[in-house]
Amino acid sequence: MKAIVLCAGKGTRLRPLTHSTPKHLIPVGNRAILSYVLSQIADAGIREVGIIISPDSGAHIREAIGAGEQWGLEVQYITQEVPGGLAHAVKMSRGFLGSSDFLMFLGDNLIEGGVSSLLEEFAATRPHGLVLLKAVADPRRFGVAELDDQGHVVRLVEKPKEPKSNLALVGAYVFTREVHDAIDRIGPSWRGELEITDAIQTLLDAGKAVVSHELKGWWLDTGTKEDILEANRVLLGSNYAGEGQGQVSGLEACQGGVDADAALAACDVVEPVSVAEKCVLDNSRIGPNVSLGPGVKITGSTVTNSIVMEGVQIIGPLVIEDSIVGSRSVITGQGGNEVLRLFLDSDSSIEVRPS
Ligand code: DAU
Repeated sequence: MKAIVLCAGKGTRLRPLTHSTPKHLIPVGNRAILSYVLSQIADAGIREVGIIISPDSGAHIREAIGAGEQWGLEVQYITQEVPGGLAHAVKMSRGFLGSSDFLMFLGDNLIEGGVSSLLEEFAATRPHGLVLLKAVADPRRFGVAELDDQGHVVRLVEKPKEPKSNLALVGAYVFTREVHDAIDRIGPSWRGELEITDAIQTLLDAGKAVVSHELKGWWLDTGTKEDILEANRVLLGSNYAGEGQGQVSGLEACQGGVDADAALAACDVVEPVSVAEKCVLDNSRIGPNVSLGPGVKITGSTVTNSIVMEGVQIIGPLVIEDSIVGSRSVITGQGGNEVLRLFLDSDSSIEVRPS
């Protein structure tokens, strides 16, 4: 069993931050989203991993992940020149995959409990495709599965306007080599992409076994700023709720708490938080649901429900909430009681003045 992790794509919904930081490297709970995905793959016992990168963001991802030693993985990189769709990414991976069975994991998905049980079910039942489903309130932004009375998958539709069920396709799939032939038989969808849902539908139409596994835990698809802040909240919260760090529902714990190498003076810290090394905080209220990257400096300010990345300076008095602040940005001034909600790329500069 090999794995591919899809990290190409444009990340347009997360601009401006994705101009400097690929979505997969945005830190939640002070760890890159992709780092959780790689931990879960390693936990499931897979060693050989191909990461699909785009020409734009590939260098950042290579630099951050390297050969994957940190996770005990052997990582190779596969460049997808254009974001031609999830099935196109599989096509680009054929050389790496050979005739292996494989896990396909979308590099922006966080799945409670990881993928071990999915792979165990695949090993036990040996279908040609195994999909993971989750009941969601608004399935229109996802691939949606229709099941028959016995719970067998009969149809998959990508982002339907009128969904026939509330079961969304989660971004982890397991396939045998049969999927490659199915991909060869599909054409681009209305959005111009080779869709993995169409390839799975082709397997179904050819009478190949495709089974589904319903996810009971939480699932986060980190496509928007709100999604990323929710992921940060959930990971920080589960870290505190867990039996101890590293034990959280199949996810290696995020870096919760206040690092011993952070300096706090006259601060009120409201958990859950993640305060990384070399942060310098004074006369401030931090939390709940705040992650501060290494070397963040905050003076005289209140920060809630936010991700503040490495080396940022916030020199107040300022009130910041529901924000994502890119690395090394500088925010200064006197905001009075006004609340700032920011979404800033790295190296931004904001000065707040009273009117
Ligand atoms: O998150 C689950 C959903 O992911 C599924 O419910 C949908 O059926 C599936 O199509 C996919 O939909 P998205 O619109 O969310 O896919 P997105 O374009 O965000 O891409 C998902 C990941 O795959 C992301 O990490 C980028 C990567 N990717 C995407 C494309 C289009 C590639 O590596 N190559 C690509 O060509």
